[in-house]
Amino acid sequence: MLLSIKSKKKSSLNSHIFNKADQLHKALQQERAAGKTIGFVPTMGALHDGHRSLVLRALAENDIVVCSIFVNPTQFNNLSDFQKYPHTEEKDIQLLNSINCRYVFIPSVDEMYLEDPKLLELNFGALENTMEAEFRPGHFKGVATIVDRLFKIVLPHNAYFGEKDFQQLAIIRSMSVQMKHEVNIIACSTLREEDGLAMSSRNLLLNNDQRKAAALIYQGLRKAQEFIPHQSVDAVRTLVIRYIEQSPLLRVQYFNFVDPITLENINSWNKNDDVQGCIAVLTEGPRLIDNINYIIE
Ligand code: PAF
Repeated sequence: MLLSIKSKKKSSLNSHIFNKADQLHKALQQERAAGKTIGFVPTMGALHDGHRSLVLRALAENDIVVCSIFVNPTQFNNLSDFQKYPHTEEKDIQLLNSINCRYVFIPSVDEMYLEDPKLLELNFGALENTMEAEFRPGHFKGVATIVDRLFKIVLPHNAYFGEKDFQQLAIIRSMSVQMKHEVNIIACSTLREEDGLAMSSRNLLLNNDQRKAAALIYQGLRKAQEFIPHQSVDAVRTLVIRYIEQSPLLRVQYFNFVDPITLENINSWNKNDDVQGCIAVLTEGPRLIDNINYIIE
């Protein structure tokens, strides 16, 4: 079904909503044949300013932009997390319409999985044995599978992902190479709320107290900068965890200092090294992740 949405402000049509993969694929073939470049922003909806900035960047760098909204069941290792994932479809469409994102893809689960329910079996090496992979078994297999399928439908020239999901970005880069997708994977900086909390659809699930406490996560990540490289890696990790856990509403699930490319743990500070601090924090509501880059001086 192809549905056009009329903006309330303008009389021109902005977004076209596609539910069927073959219809979107065909429409995009025509754009490609006309020499247009295609930018792609895959999302699970509940769009916020972070997503908006990805779409705006894609719009600035491509002739056509496609945004997909699909809460992908195979990347949830926990049924209640899947069931609770926020859905704000009408608002999402309005947002995309207001910034002239021309193509919006909102498939059903059947559309994406009925014909071929098998997940992609790829080897991600060290990337799949650490951090998120350890605590969310199967998560990246689901992410890689859906992004591969979406890439095959959209065949984008450029695809945009937020750096908040730092490990996901590394997995998607690897999947893209292994599956020979001819797409540039573009990493975009994390957008933050005024108090530093990384923007995330899951923030909608925080109650007021959890939301206030959650600001400690980014503060803690920044605090590490005061102690690097004077204190050991383990000591800085402990200090940051203590800082965040000063709130009884937050429990750090992991906080790792890793190489930004291989994601392997680093155990000592070496001058001029580029180190990523990656964290996952449990609240009684949603689980939150974030990361920060440190240059060792
Ligand atoms: O980051 C997300 O929103 C999702 O993991 C993605 C990349 C859209 C795949 O479902």
